[in-house]
Amino acid sequence: MIRWGIVGAGNIAHSFAKDLALVADNRLCAVASRSLNKASEFAQTYGAEHAFGSYEELFKSDVLDVVYIATPHTSHADLSIRAMDHNKHVLCEKPMGINSAEVKLMLDKASEKKVFLMEALWTRFNPTIKKVKQLIADGEIGTVAYLKADFAFYGLDRDESGRVLNPHLAGGSVLDIGIYPMFLSYLLLGMPKKITAQAQFYKTGVESQTAMIFEYENAQALLFSGLASNSEMKAEIAGSSGTLFINPRWHEASSYVLEKEGNSELFTLEKIGKGYTYEITEVANCINTGRLESTLWSHQNTRDLCTLLDTVREKAGIRFPFEL
Ligand SMILES: NC(=O)c1ccc[n+]([C@@H]2O[C@H](COP(=O)([O-])OP(=O)(O)OC[C@H]3O[C@@H](n4cnc5c(N)ncnc54)[C@H](OP(=O)(O)O)[C@@H]3O)[C@@H](O)[C@H]2O)c1
Repeated sequence: MIRWGIVGAGNIAHSFAKDLALVADNRLCAVASRSLNKASEFAQTYGAEHAFGSYEELFKSDVLDVVYIATPHTSHADLSIRAMDHNKHVLCEKPMGINSAEVKLMLDKASEKKVFLMEALWTRFNPTIKKVKQLIADGEIGTVAYLKADFAFYGLDRDESGRVLNPHLAGGSVLDIGIYPMFLSYLLLGMPKKITAQAQFYKTGVESQTAMIFEYENAQALLFSGLASNSEMKAEIAGSSGTLFINPRWHEASSYVLEKEGNSELFTLEKIGKGYTYEITEVANCINTGRLESTLWSHQNTRDLCTLLDTVREKAGIRFPFEL
């Protein structure tokens, strides 16, 4: 039985707790919030025995095995490192850190303390995404020449002090949702040779939408993230002998379409819960077998993805106030 503790009782923490309840041999044991009332309410809703009114109390407690960090981007490095300092395994929400320097500190701490650490890149474990990756590796659509992936929602009506629109919390679309299209391109095509990126900005100073081109030897990927509109969120991967469409919303897909030789066929795959169940199972399997990193989403994968985020931000002129 893997005993989980959640840090930060916000939106994603609720979704995660619901999915955690669907995974055998894993249970929510504790939750920490900056408010004890909020933690107690959360604990009661999801049946956790322990509620803490500070994150530090959870890190120090000996009632859990692994900590899930579910707070804004700017706190991921600090909180993960504090959890690891107390010898806890960590699953940290994406992006692992806000830049490569933070990611390095986190990975160094994980090797120093010999604990498991993984970025919660849940899409990597989605059965449809795994299947599409396998099909491409098997040559089902020939040589991939074109990939299109987007992730956008209208978010400009949100609280300007909240994590999405607040530059002091590393807001904007790129770190929050642009990370997904970049991830898909990286997963299927690897590290690009060249990156082009252009951003638009909102009045709070955060970037509101960003268009990216990843250049590969024989392929180009057109990627987009935005907070100023919704987008279709159907990914397309086209090769010399066929095309794959990952159906909306592609980052949490449960089906894909294969178009080949004039035929179009829809394939539907399993998805348990909202889809966090698969990353939870991966973490539990790693911990149970003494592995300190996942082979499906390794430390190197996290380093690479963060390098891509850094590069896109540099090319598009996206800086946070604490970086100026
Ligand atoms: N994997 C996914 O599908 C997915 C989806 C959404 C978000 N995320 C990621 O999850 C993280 C949290 O996102 P969210 O949408 O859950 O955010 P949220 O609703 O704003 O919740 C974040 C929580 O973090 C805590 N917190 C600590 N310091 C804070 C600060 N300075 N300002 C605001 N909150 C602070 C708060 O919990 P307490 O008040 O309880 O301490 C807050 O409720 C982000 O890194 C995001 O990228 C992932």
